[in-house]
Amino acid sequence: MNTSRLFIVSNRLPITIITDDQKFKVQPSSGGLVSAMKSYLAGTSENKHNNFSETFWVGMPCCRPAVWSEAAQGIHESKFTYLPVFYNAKAYECYYNGFSNSTLWPLFHYFPSFAEYNTEHYNYYIQANEAFADTMIRHLRPNDVVWIHDYHLLPLARLLRQAMPELTIGFFLHIPFPSYEIVRLLPRSWREELLYGMLGADLIGFHTMDYATHFLQCIQMVLGLEHNMHIIQHENRLIKADVFPISIDFTLFDNAFDDAKVSVQRAGLQDKFKQQRIIFSVDRLDYTKGVSNRLKAYELFLQNNPEYREKVVFILVVVPSREYITKYAERKKMIDEMISNINSKIGTIHWQPVIYQYNSLNFEEMVALYTSCDIALITPLRDGMNLVAKEFVASRKDQQGVLVLSEMAGAARELTTALIINPNDEKEVSDKILQAMEMPSGEQSKRLEPMRKRIADYDVLTWAADFLNQLNAIKVKQQEFQIK
Ligand code: F6P
Repeated sequence: MNTSRLFIVSNRLPITIITDDQKFKVQPSSGGLVSAMKSYLAGTSENKHNNFSETFWVGMPCCRPAVWSEAAQGIHESKFTYLPVFYNAKAYECYYNGFSNSTLWPLFHYFPSFAEYNTEHYNYYIQANEAFADTMIRHLRPNDVVWIHDYHLLPLARLLRQAMPELTIGFFLHIPFPSYEIVRLLPRSWREELLYGMLGADLIGFHTMDYATHFLQCIQMVLGLEHNMHIIQHENRLIKADVFPISIDFTLFDNAFDDAKVSVQRAGLQDKFKQQRIIFSVDRLDYTKGVSNRLKAYELFLQNNPEYREKVVFILVVVPSREYITKYAERKKMIDEMISNINSKIGTIHWQPVIYQYNSLNFEEMVALYTSCDIALITPLRDGMNLVAKEFVASRKDQQGVLVLSEMAGAARELTTALIINPNDEKEVSDKILQAMEMPSGEQSKRLEPMRKRIADYDVLTWAADFLNQLNAIKVKQQEFQIK
């Protein structure tokens, strides 16, 4: 029996505690990171690669310790134990809304003009990482495996490594890693500290080869470190940077097509929209998702193809996110106004061109929409991977429906038989909507088949096993290297 334990570390825990005066509410967290790790843990009994003696999930519950203790009494997880890290509200605001989401997020998604450079935010970001390290060090043993996730925790691996040199540490970035020209916008001492922070890990994973290549170029340009076939030699250690395109639970989405609740909801949608074709999209509220470009392209499509008026609806779901950040609140206002303009300008008494929901969907509602729509219109301006694209493809057991996908999403590297668009080219998006509307059923299934195969072959369990196996392999290689 393997005595090592797995510590999954992310800013957000799989549950979020919402506090309001004296009351609190526990709700499941959303987002790609949480859904991937939850799917991985749910499948671990079938996953021969996970033979850890115990699993912990370390994260910030964003509430006071007393509230957490009360909330935790009602939570029972069979696959892992929660390890909460506490940080006061003002500090969290600077670390999460500040440096993580108003500096790193816009920069890494190529929105440099949105990035703020605030020393107080940066200092709280480093301190938040130190809070993670302090909590973890109290629990860790040298033969444990730590798997750190995402841009909130770039310095953490190094902090842990300094305290416990023997640890096995993996780091996975869920967003793009940008080119050196973007990274160099960060003040010199920050960019150095962040890159050295990542190098505290033994294995550093990215969604695509482009992101891994950018990282390797950055450590050469910023830190003067070379690599040989993705392996970096640093402080008497071997560190590997490689590609692990995150995925979904293919079987869950594939089986959901025949689920009774999904079938009832699908029938309801098909009946309600029997006179119309459906275009569908769902995203978190984020300026990176390209919702306004998408709306402009849809409007252009209706202008250029008047025969489709009254014969199509665009069901647009936006999931609330990071609303306390000005750029997000502004985006929400802009989307609301654009939708109301399109509906009032082009719509009629009998027809609303855009049906808009600003709220999340549950699993059944989501799959019912994935499986009733004619087109999934996914047009981010920049996206690390985009799991919605994979979920749509996996849900289409009927091999019908067309994926229109932005070349700026990591998913476009794998889902190559989608209709690929540039989200800044409204005319191209509008033309591809028309091509998708008119695509024969045989071509739809021909395009979906290889994409479904790719996701079935490299699902989330394979992704996690691949990462953990390579982490183990580099550790072995590193030990051999240190003995020599
Ligand atoms: O990697 C990006 C990510 O962390 C994803 O997990 C998810 O899509 C989103 O950001 C969630 O953001 P937040 O935790 O800020 O709500």
